[in-house]
Amino acid sequence: MCGILGYTGERQASDILLSGLAKLEYRGYDSAGLAVLDNGNIKIAKNKGRLKILEERIKAGQEISGTCGIGHTRWATHGEPSDINAHPLWSDDMSVVAVHNGIVENYREIKNMLANYGYEFYSQTDTEAAVKLIDFYYKQEKNPLKAITQAIKKIEGSYCFVLLFKDFPNEVWGARKDLPLIAGQGKGESFLASDVSAILQDTRQVYYLDNMEIVQLKKGLVRFFDTEGYAKHKELSEVTWDAQAAEKGGFEHFMMKEIHEQARAVKDTFGSVFHSNKIDLGEMGLTDERIKAISQIYIIACGSAYHAGAVAQYVIEDLAKIPVRIELASEFRYRNMPMDKNALAIIISQSGETADTLAAMRRAKENKINTLAIVNVVGSTIAREADSVFYTMAGPEIAVATTKAYSAQLIASYVLAVKFAQVRGTIDELQCENLISEIQKLPEKIDEILDEKEPLEEIAQKFVNARNAFYLGRNIDYAVAMEGSLKMKEISYLHSEACAAGEMKHGPISLIERGMLVAGIMTQKDLYQKIASNMLEAKSRGAFLFVVSTRGCKYLKEEADFIFNIPETDEHFSASLSVIPLQLMGYYVAVARKLDVDKPRNLAKSVTVE
Ligand code: AGP
Ligand code: GLU
Repeated sequence: MCGILGYTGERQASDILLSGLAKLEYRGYDSAGLAVLDNGNIKIAKNKGRLKILEERIKAGQEISGTCGIGHTRWATHGEPSDINAHPLWSDDMSVVAVHNGIVENYREIKNMLANYGYEFYSQTDTEAAVKLIDFYYKQEKNPLKAITQAIKKIEGSYCFVLLFKDFPNEVWGARKDLPLIAGQGKGESFLASDVSAILQDTRQVYYLDNMEIVQLKKGLVRFFDTEGYAKHKELSEVTWDAQAAEKGGFEHFMMKEIHEQARAVKDTFGSVFHSNKIDLGEMGLTDERIKAISQIYIIACGSAYHAGAVAQYVIEDLAKIPVRIELASEFRYRNMPMDKNALAIIISQSGETADTLAAMRRAKENKINTLAIVNVVGSTIAREADSVFYTMAGPEIAVATTKAYSAQLIASYVLAVKFAQVRGTIDELQCENLISEIQKLPEKIDEILDEKEPLEEIAQKFVNARNAFYLGRNIDYAVAMEGSLKMKEISYLHSEACAAGEMKHGPISLIERGMLVAGIMTQKDLYQKIASNMLEAKSRGAFLFVVSTRGCKYLKEEADFIFNIPETDEHFSASLSVIPLQLMGYYVAVARKLDVDKPRNLAKSVTVE
């Protein structure tokens, strides 16, 4: 995800772009840049780091005058944050200069094709491949619309492009697939932006581009085209949101916005390693030979990342038959644990900066253990120091309570489990295909759950004054219970505890009181009966039984106080679905308690201290 802006009109483009990008920086802040087209010249200013650095450079006098330009704040997915990887990116003769939001999944194939025509590449980004593909067609057609329409037919992935063509003064072009792009209509000027917050101070008259639409801005004129180059009529809309609501996409909190971005995060994370119909871990150095040699896996993390690892343990062990230990990083770093030299240490971290996790990874490396990091922030410390990296594609996560990054970590874990199992022959090709197909269906099932979230808001009101809660599960459902419990406690300050359901009778059940929230997760068919009896033990002692179970589960229909059914999926992947209602419950209780959902007390988004 990143912030994109385009402008053409009578005012200085750099002023408009800088103030608009400031509203978009929450979408990505690895680097910032802009390009301005003036009298057939395109001038570019860009740098690694925050927008403020760019602003200071321009205010200090870097020549960037002109009334037509584009801007970008980056959230890196391919190529670490650096000056050269910062957007805009350009074709060699500057005929085409562009900024991009999203992922060009087939950038390798595009680069290989273009190299045959003499194209070279100066950055590590996927974006540059797309820019030069557009340039490739532009050189033949000398027509921006034809160049764009031909290129986007070849580009796979999710994207928004906003472009300048040196030979077309005062014009800004754009195209979108899956990611948001809006066009703003002003008096004698027009805009393109990733979201309305960037242009609200200039206009509330906007067009929302649909998928595979192309847009041309001229001064005060906005025109749309389809991929065949035919002009399209679109209705103008009036924005009623205020700027702050716009940053949250109309949601009240970033957390709810990010809960709704999970389907996209899941899709993009899987798409980043699924090429030509197979899982490709080549970039992580995980060759078949390396995979076959793995004798043991240590998963090391903190908080929700640890909970994702707890799911991964069950999935990897069941599919790939590799023993997996999950370790809290803060414990692992101080334990003298004998380690297997053929082990793989999987380090999970959204921020890539968590002090305990970083220290634990260094400990594993001291023991000559191969380290693979599952990280969301490109170029973060853990990403740079690990032997190899599996980047999740969740985009920037603003809310302290993680949701979409956790879900993306699950997908990364599933991919590793399926790949390891396939290479080690513990599953056959048909099983592999079926598992992959189930993973690919998860995004739509997540959205299906979100479409049915209203009853959860109602139930949450019952627990506005609650003081304690239990989350019960077995197997993968216990790992999800851990995450559901953390979501509740960290944002609603309600003390909750996850318990392996079978453990309740060994002590914790003494805590059950009348009306106490006991959430039970039931997605593992072989364990339905067991978990149901554990929940009935709580119910018989007065608990309010909140059940998350797979559609079709016949248990507890009469006894539960509330049942939330989730769609069927392969049981290995049920965590991706059962966690959603639990995230929402934590959110709704916190909102009902009028708490600061996005910034809970005492917490930080990245815990960079011990
Ligand atoms: C989860 O909602 C919390 N924000 C916290 O537990 C977090 O998962 C933990 O601090 C680990 O952070 P990391 O993934 O950035 O390493
Ligand atoms: N994939 C592109 C890059 O890594 C764009 C990322 C973004 O959306 O900011 O540069």
